[in-house]
Amino acid sequence: MRSAKDFFRPLAVGAPAPVREVPFRPSRMIHFFDPGNEKMAAKVPSLAPQVDVLLGNLEDAVPADRKEAARAGLVKTARDVDFGDTQLWTRINSLDSPWALDDLLTLVPEIGGKLDVVMVPKVEGAQDIHYVDRLLAQLEAKAGLTRPILVHAILETAAGVAAVEEIAGASPRMQGISLGPADLAASRRMKTTRVGGGHPDYLVRADPPASGGGAAGDGPRPTFQQDLWHYTIARMVDACAAHGILPYYGPFGDIQDTTACEDQFRNAFLLGCVGAWSLHPVQIGIAKRVFSPSPQDVAWARRVIAAMGDGTGAVMIDGKMQDDATYKQCLVVADLADALAA
Ligand code: GLV
Ligand code: MG
Repeated sequence: MRSAKDFFRPLAVGAPAPVREVPFRPSRMIHFFDPGNEKMAAKVPSLAPQVDVLLGNLEDAVPADRKEAARAGLVKTARDVDFGDTQLWTRINSLDSPWALDDLLTLVPEIGGKLDVVMVPKVEGAQDIHYVDRLLAQLEAKAGLTRPILVHAILETAAGVAAVEEIAGASPRMQGISLGPADLAASRRMKTTRVGGGHPDYLVRADPPASGGGAAGDGPRPTFQQDLWHYTIARMVDACAAHGILPYYGPFGDIQDTTACEDQFRNAFLLGCVGAWSLHPVQIGIAKRVFSPSPQDVAWARRVIAAMGDGTGAVMIDGKMQDDATYKQCLVVADLADALAA
């Protein structure tokens, strides 16, 4: 039986050694915690089995005078906790801050063997990834680490969006890219003060109902809220797919609005994202539900795959035409279900 891998380029890492394939690891939710906050850090052992990725955040939301405590807290947590199959990531400070270099200089020698991915904020171009890549290579060599730490970029400046293709392909270490809607809104001078999600004023309005002679009437005119992030997510997904890395929606700041959070996550899933950030435990279950294909979709995909045999030609199932292309679409769904079940 063929799999989606026969059609799509695999994720590859290992610079500068020969490129090797990295097995897909579920990352439906990247769960953020503040490692300098002792109460939060104490919950990590019980949180770890519930999430695909735990991320110790050192950047925004950690005040300037708590940066060193957060870094030290992450070292302690990484050493003390057995993460099992759960990945440990960190978000370092941005490369234009006074802390990014010290983040890497501390974390790689101290806990590099436990760190799966370094998330780099405010990436503006390939040069930022090259810088981190070279530093990681030096620090890994010095620490005797043989497993490369992967790199994840946040797409959250207008310059970064303009350079997203070169960022996605900047290094074989690239694991994926997340949309950062809050910083991106500021960078673009958008007029929203929300962290992700829609905006009630970003609308299209239905045409006026035509009255007798074709002139506009004054009946009700429904409005439809649009997704502020559609363009950027689609662009990011294309760049990631072209380079064999993974795209993610980032944060949804209105913790209480679980419905809108689920909608935003689902839009991202349908467009090709494999996960999103969870900022609060309530968002863990949402991400798990949204970024796992539904049993009905998986059953349908398996039905099409079985009916399509070697994957060429065309068949009709329940009145719907299936061919080589829908076969590949179904492989994406079935492979994801298999990977999540493994
Ligand atoms: C995330 O970092 C964002 O700015 O949205
Ligand atoms: Mg940000």
